[in-house]
Amino acid sequence: MSRFAPEALFPHADDIPEAWRLGAPVEQREYLVDGELRRWDGPLATVRSPIFLKGERGEEQVILGSTPLLDADAALQALDAAVRAYDNGQGAWPNLRVGERIHHVEAFLARMRERRHEVVRLLMWEIGKNLKDSEKEFDRTCDYMVDTINALKELDRRSSRFELEQGTLGQIRRVPLGVALCMGPYNYPLNETFTTLIPALIMGNTVVFKPAKFGVLLMRPLLEAFRDSFPAGVINIIYGRGRETVSALMASGKVDVFAFIGTNKGASDLKKLHPRPHRLRAALGLDAKNPGIVLPQVDLDNAVNEAVTGALSFNGQRCTALKILFVHEDVLEPFLARFSAKLAALKPGMPWEDGVALTPLPEPGKVDYLATLLQDATAKGAQVVNDGGGQSRESFFYPALLCPVSPDMRIYQEEQFGPLVPVVPYRDVQTAIDYVLDSDYGQQLSIFGNDPAEVGRLVDAFANQVGRININAQCQRGPDTFPFNGRKNSAEGTLSVHDALRTFSIRTLVATRFQEDNKTLISEIIRNRESSFISTDYIF
Ligand code: G3H
Repeated sequence: MSRFAPEALFPHADDIPEAWRLGAPVEQREYLVDGELRRWDGPLATVRSPIFLKGERGEEQVILGSTPLLDADAALQALDAAVRAYDNGQGAWPNLRVGERIHHVEAFLARMRERRHEVVRLLMWEIGKNLKDSEKEFDRTCDYMVDTINALKELDRRSSRFELEQGTLGQIRRVPLGVALCMGPYNYPLNETFTTLIPALIMGNTVVFKPAKFGVLLMRPLLEAFRDSFPAGVINIIYGRGRETVSALMASGKVDVFAFIGTNKGASDLKKLHPRPHRLRAALGLDAKNPGIVLPQVDLDNAVNEAVTGALSFNGQRCTALKILFVHEDVLEPFLARFSAKLAALKPGMPWEDGVALTPLPEPGKVDYLATLLQDATAKGAQVVNDGGGQSRESFFYPALLCPVSPDMRIYQEEQFGPLVPVVPYRDVQTAIDYVLDSDYGQQLSIFGNDPAEVGRLVDAFANQVGRININAQCQRGPDTFPFNGRKNSAEGTLSVHDALRTFSIRTLVATRFQEDNKTLISEIIRNRESSFISTDYIF
C-alpha cells in the first residue's frame, strides 16, 4: 500500500514547526550592482511556493514574496559594472594577488555560514527540497568553497616556480578570462550556481549572476555578504526574465564566459546571440536521460536500492537522476516487485517533516506534464506497476513505476525530470547499448551486475558515450573532486573543484632566453616585487 493520502498531504499553518515557519511575504526590490544594493521600482515577479496550506477556503498555494523583474537596461547596467571592474584586465580584481582574492572569498564564506538557517528554510519553501537535502546542499556548497580555496593554493604554489626548457626560461600562470555570466538551475539553486560562480570570482573574473527561475529568494540573505566581501562591480546580481535580461547581455558581446545549467536549447539560443562566438567560453550542464541497466546476474537488492534513490531522490529532479531503466527479463518480476515495495516505503509530505522523501514540485504545469507522459505510455501499452502511482494533488505527483516501456512512448526519449520511472524489459543487452548510442544525451549511466565479463564488456561499449559509468551505483555528480561532464547535448566542458579553476582561466606564459642580462632582469623584478605575475611568492 502506498503511503500517499492526498487529503492529508498539505498541512495547516499551525502544523509547521516553529523553526521553519514563514514570516510575512518578502517584497524584494534590491539587486546588487557596482557594490551597492539598488532599489527597483518597476514590476515584480511573484514567488510561489510548491507548498499549499489548508485554510478557510480550502488548500491555497503559499505566496513567498516577490523579486524584481529587471528590464534589459537594468541588466546591462550590471554588465557595465562588471566590465568596468574588469577594465580590460587592468582592474584591481583581476590583478589582485591570489592570496588576497582568497581572503575575499573566505570573508564571504564566513558571512554565508551565518545565514544557513534562512537559506535552508527558503530551499524547502521555494523548491520543496526536504530538510536533510537542503542542509546537505548548503553544507556541500561551503565545503566546495573550502576545497576550491585549497585547490587554488596548490595551483598557485605550482605556478610560483620557473621552468627552463631548451634555453628558454618561463613562468606559467593562470589568469582570468574577463566577464562571466553565471546562471544556475532551480534544482540546486545554491550549490550548482556556486560551483561556477565561486571559481569564476576566485580566478579574477568579474561576474554577473542571475539566480535560477525558482530558488530566487534564497539569495536575498546573501546579498549583503556579497556586497561587503567583494570590491564594487566584481559581483553583480540581477533578477528577471532570462529572455529580457540575459539575451541583452549575450547580444552585447561583452560576456567572455557563459556558465549555464539548463536545457541545451536554452544554451544554444543564448550562445547564438553572442556576436563574437570564438571569444565566448562556455561551461554548460544540460539535459540528460541517464539509463540504469540491470543485468541478469545481479545483486538485486542493491540494484533496487540504488535505482529507487537514483530515480526518485528530490522527486527525480536531478540532472543526474536515473531516467530510464533497462531490466533483463529474467529478473524483471522480482525487480518490479521490490522496487514497488521500496517506493511504497517512501514518505510523502512537507520538506521539514522527519524522514520525508517525496515532496511537491516547484514547476507550474509539471504535474500535468507528468500526467500527459503517463497517459501517453499507458495508451501505448505500459502499466502503472505500483500502488497509487500517478495520483496527484495540486503540485504533488505520486511516483509511477511504468512497465513495459517501448520506443514509441514519449517517456522513452523525453527527460521527465520528475517522479516517473520507466522500465524497458530486454532480452538482448544490445537494446540498451543501442539506446545509449542513439541517444542525443551522454551524461552518465549505471550498470548493475556482477558478471565480470559482461560488466567489463559494457564498460568498454559505453566508455566513448558518456562522462561517467557507475557500477552497481546510481548516477551522481559527487564527489566534487571527480570530473563532472557529459557528451553530445548533455554538457560543454568539465567541472570539478580542480577543473572549474581551469575552466574560468587561461594560462599565460612569460618567457625569456636564458642568458645573463635576462636572468638579472628577472631576479631584480622578483627581488623588488615589481610584478605580481613574475613572482616566486608561495602561499601557505
Ligand atoms: O542536477 C544535477 C546535479 O549536478 C546532480 O548532482 O548527483 O549530486 O545530485 P547530484
